[in-house]
Amino acid sequence: MKLAQLIAQTGEHEAVIQVLCHLLEAKRTNVFLVKDISESIAKKAIEIINQYKKGIPLAYLLGSTYFYNRKFLVTPDVLVPRHDTEVLVELTEKKIIADSLIGNEHTPYRILDLCCGSGIIGISLSYLCDWLHSRESELKYEITAVDCSEAALSVAVENAALHRADINFIKSDLFEDVRGKFDLIVCNPPYVRTAEIGVEDQWTLQEPRIALDGGIDGLYFYRRILTDAKKHLHSNGMIIFEIGYDQAIAVEQIALEYGYHSVKVYKDLANRDRVVTIRV
Ligand SMILES: C[S@@+](CC[C@H](N)C(=O)[O-])C[C@H]1O[C@@H](n2cnc3c(N)ncnc32)[C@H](O)[C@@H]1O
Repeated sequence: MKLAQLIAQTGEHEAVIQVLCHLLEAKRTNVFLVKDISESIAKKAIEIINQYKKGIPLAYLLGSTYFYNRKFLVTPDVLVPRHDTEVLVELTEKKIIADSLIGNEHTPYRILDLCCGSGIIGISLSYLCDWLHSRESELKYEITAVDCSEAALSVAVENAALHRADINFIKSDLFEDVRGKFDLIVCNPPYVRTAEIGVEDQWTLQEPRIALDGGIDGLYFYRRILTDAKKHLHSNGMIIFEIGYDQAIAVEQIALEYGYHSVKVYKDLANRDRVVTIRV
């Protein structure tokens, strides 16, 4: 069967490409070069696409997805990594590099990935930290990742092993079991308004509710985290949040109300507010 026939038969384009990348263990560009898709691969692909069309996220059906160009294991116990979160990682990388250029004030430079889910943020940052350390051995980094879900943490631990990332994982209700101060807290908290869960897309309904539900106004976790974050940040520390596209003003107000300053808002590739940086 030709790729175009499979796309026409299923009525899905992007999903077909992703499924074929997985089944053929091929890079995206190579999928377009396949002349003939065997009958058994086409049959498997159609089965997966049918499940996907019934509302099961592709990442759950395939058991993995790509984030920041790297493959991560994904199960129904964790949020499916979103491309929007790559903006959060990119900005955090810039901050880590900027700090390393002026010389990290603390050794090790401590980073906290709060609400880590599958571990994508902390693990992605570990690649940069390892590289910076390999260039200048005096630069030392320590990454801690926290989640309250035991099941999510076991996926994160598996991903860390897959990527050989040296990360301390802690099961904790936000900061409850977290000790010491950090240079950087990076966090993609649950921020969907309770009433809006599953409204935009049906696949979200299959994801863990605790990974999405940000309370009535979606801001519950920003309030809780900003209540305690100061105790866990050095005086020059920064917190970097992912936010919903319409939450920038509200999160900025909360931050200022709670005595933080220098709040900056950054946009995602769709030009929507997506990340907020906040200083102690
Ligand atoms: C939006 S997901 C983010 C997951 C991952 N960091 C990502 O970007 O894909 C939020 C995560 O927060 C976790 N979480 C929810 N409530 C929490 C709490 N009280 N303490 C710690 N983690 C919590 C959920 O289990 C979920 O893994």
